[in-house]
Amino acid sequence: MRVVVTGGSGFIGSHVVDSLVARGHETCIYDLDTPQHSPGCEHVRGDARDLDRLVKAVRSGDVIYHLAAEANVNRFFESPLFSNENTSHSTLCVLEAARRVDAARVVLASTEWVYGSTDGNEEVVIAEDCPYARDPDHIYTCSKIAAELFCIGHRNLYGTEYTIMRYGIPFGERARPETVTPTFIRKILKDETIRIHGDGSQYRQFIYVKDLAEGNVACLQESARNQIFNLNGTEKVTVLQVVQALERILGRTARIEFVEDRKGNFKGRFISSEKAKHLLGWEPRHRYEEALSLYASRYLDSLRQRR
Ligand SMILES: NC(=O)c1ccc[n+]([C@@H]2O[C@H](COP(=O)([O-])OP(=O)(O)OC[C@H]3O[C@@H](n4cnc5c(N)ncnc54)[C@H](O)[C@@H]3O)[C@@H](O)[C@H]2O)c1
Repeated sequence: MRVVVTGGSGFIGSHVVDSLVARGHETCIYDLDTPQHSPGCEHVRGDARDLDRLVKAVRSGDVIYHLAAEANVNRFFESPLFSNENTSHSTLCVLEAARRVDAARVVLASTEWVYGSTDGNEEVVIAEDCPYARDPDHIYTCSKIAAELFCIGHRNLYGTEYTIMRYGIPFGERARPETVTPTFIRKILKDETIRIHGDGSQYRQFIYVKDLAEGNVACLQESARNQIFNLNGTEKVTVLQVVQALERILGRTARIEFVEDRKGNFKGRFISSEKAKHLLGWEPRHRYEEALSLYASRYLDSLRQRR
């Protein structure tokens, strides 16, 4: 099958491309940036908002994975108009391109943020039928909800098939250096203080990016047609446990400073990926600490290579 991956040069997209290529799919990266990790893969340098260019890159019967977006919520905060164009408006462009060339399906990268983050009962398990956040606390959330609704509305109006993937918090090789795991690794290695808000009991469900990439590929199945899936880690990991796991893996003691809890610091809610397990046969292959250990050792390798 031919698959076009917008955002295929990015952190998650590059792993999705690796997994698609490993399964023998003819894969084309459509991205503003030149891919650093997928030698030999077809690459079209293009903007996901450029409908004419998209239409030239996509062929009838292709599946389009749409991962291109503004994924950095801080940049979203700084420039919401531009970020929204790259996120929700780009989704409508991809759907239109799919319609024009009669593509098989659009597979959208979305986020657990669409459920909202600070309100609600922390005991509740979130499944895909949970309503969208009624009181979104970030424009990123609004933009992703809009992108999802464009998929659903486009299908209702024009019959464009879709799959929506709601990612948890990915970590692993090629992650942005300012995200939590590489930041903690760096601080522990440099003996710098890690500042934790509250007592560190707030938890998250991290998903190893290679497992997430496999979840993306699982969404090619027929059973994923016009469905929404949470693709998330299955373990609750507290911020303190992240630090403690890294201490064990790196064989060092972290300097930790506990500071006042942030107002409304979200303790966490459990997002269930049972639907993906039942319908697609997907679940993360790695336990959290096993994946963290793999990532940390690759991180250390890359530091040695740079020296
Ligand atoms: N990283 C996370 O924590 C996270 C969590 C949930 C969902 N997501 C979603 O997953 C997707 C991928 O995120 P990521 O972390 O790999 O981001 P990333 O920033 O590493 O990659 C995004 C890629 O998209 C490309 N891109 C951006 N705008 C473009 C445009 N207009 N046209 C063409 N290419 C464009 C960039 O060049 C980049 O290569 C995004 O949709 C993001 O919102 C990410």
